[in-house]
Amino acid sequence: MSSVVYLNGEYLPRSEAKLSVDERGFFFGDGVYEVTRAVDGHLFESGRHMKRLARGLRELRLEPSLSLADIEAISLELLQRNDITSGEGTVYLQITRGAAPRTHHFPPAGTPCTVFLSAQRFAVPHDKRATGVAVVTYPDIRWSRCDIKTVNLLAAVMAKQHAVDHGVFEAIFVKDGAITEGSHTNIFGVIDGELRTYPSSNLILPGITRDVVLDVARELGVPINETPFHTHHLPQLQECFLTGTTTDVMPVVSIDGVTVGDGKPGRTSMALYDALATRLYGAIPAGGR
Ligand SMILES: Cc1ncc(COP(=O)(O)O)c(C=O)c1O
Repeated sequence: MSSVVYLNGEYLPRSEAKLSVDERGFFFGDGVYEVTRAVDGHLFESGRHMKRLARGLRELRLEPSLSLADIEAISLELLQRNDITSGEGTVYLQITRGAAPRTHHFPPAGTPCTVFLSAQRFAVPHDKRATGVAVVTYPDIRWSRCDIKTVNLLAAVMAKQHAVDHGVFEAIFVKDGAITEGSHTNIFGVIDGELRTYPSSNLILPGITRDVVLDVARELGVPINETPFHTHHLPQLQECFLTGTTTDVMPVVSIDGVTVGDGKPGRTSMALYDALATRLYGAIPAGGR
């Protein structure tokens, strides 16, 4: 059965949702997106997602007619209409500068933004967390506004395909020797007992899960050092993990074929996962860790 999606004011079967060939998302990747986790019909950290969305809209001078409250309401409505009111789901949102004859500059004033949302079920990758995952490095060939969650994801596409070609979970970007983040995740290392991660800046996406993990690390008293670790630090890594809305905390046990720490999910990584899971579910999920 086709799922129900939201497109420009209408709820309709996914198979009936159609976009113009003049869509600026298609021509230029001229838009932003969000992916929000839903647990038992509730949106996790919706406030933080909406704040990041609002900032992205402002930075790109996108002015959809919907308010953030409208977007939250549509997200919840989609969970209902697709019967995802229990268990795990995600809500995808995309807002572009709309459809207009192709010009690089903005379309005429009054051109409505395209607003699309969908909701889908989501299988949490607990099995991968139990063993940890392998990653490969990839040059960070992206632009200098990685802090905006734009749909222009070509570098991420190339990097993730590189990971797939190597049979591993994720590709991690390297810029001037520093590990910035993954193709769709943020990355943390543990060196000398300190949590290290690339500082929030124009060169990474300010991940919502990254923020929550930093919060719970502070609560647990884990020392935090928001300075990058570099490829030359890899032999010193005691632990490494990825964070993301669909990744949670995912231990990394191998980078470019070299084992991290003792090759098993690390203690700090799993303590942080447990703390994140407690926020997601109110408790550590039975059967999932
Ligand atoms: C480049 C990049 N970094 C980090 C993340 C993780 O962000 P979040 O925790 O908000 O899902 C994503 C998510 O898509 C991403 O694309």
